[in-house]
Amino acid sequence: MKAVRKAVIPAAGLGTRFLPATKTIPKEMLPIIDKPTIQYVVEEAVDSSLNEIVFVTRKGKNSIEDHFDTDLELERALQGKETLLKTVRAVSRMISITSVRQKEPLGLGHAVLVTKHAIGDEPFGVCLGDDIILGETPCMRQLLDVYESTGCSVVAVMEVPWETVSRYGLVSIRNEGASSGNYFEIEDMVEKPAQSEAPSNLAIIGRYLLTPGIFEALEATTAGALGE
Ligand code: UTP
Repeated sequence: MKAVRKAVIPAAGLGTRFLPATKTIPKEMLPIIDKPTIQYVVEEAVDSSLNEIVFVTRKGKNSIEDHFDTDLELERALQGKETLLKTVRAVSRMISITSVRQKEPLGLGHAVLVTKHAIGDEPFGVCLGDDIILGETPCMRQLLDVYESTGCSVVAVMEVPWETVSRYGLVSIRNEGASSGNYFEIEDMVEKPAQSEAPSNLAIIGRYLLTPGIFEALEATTAGALGE
């Protein structure tokens, strides 16, 4: 089984729901307390042992790569302020960065597809850049553990209240309870169904562990009703 080394972080969306905040500031760079959202996501990947990060960005989103790059001028200005210097250095040393452009916002599947050449023929993680997931064991680490014992692609799901299922992508599962751990085999996925048609209340959230076969599947996928 091939080892997982890379995490793709899609961050090339237009962020329209947060306008006007996101007119010039990427949604993924909006801060929560003293860190941009995407830093929490990167820290989860690193805590899960994935520190080769492939960002998917677009025009106007260079601040994402810059945030994780070295800023020598800033480091010089912080000489003598050891705590701040340590904080700034830790961010710039956290990951190795590859950046891929998604030239049109054609959706999440397309954002993953444009990383094909950066990923190559190996399994990889995907962490949505605007989605923070907290847990004692990092969510991506949990997916890696399942991948390492099954060799399969894995998606993270979350139980949501039944009244809200029509807002999510949901999975239907086979052999419920048969697996020894906290994972199940997925039979099907359905996007935003009416509550009466929902196969479960298990919603797909922003973490995936994908085998490279996903690229062929994405290439064979045509746009849906919304053009994505
Ligand atoms: P969202 O659908 O939440 O982000 O995608 P969005 O498209 O920016 O938001 P709205 O709908 O306009 O408000 C989840 C993640 O996937 C990325 C986004 O940047 C976000 O981090 N994404 C989405 C892409 O990289 N490319 C896309 O074409 C769409």
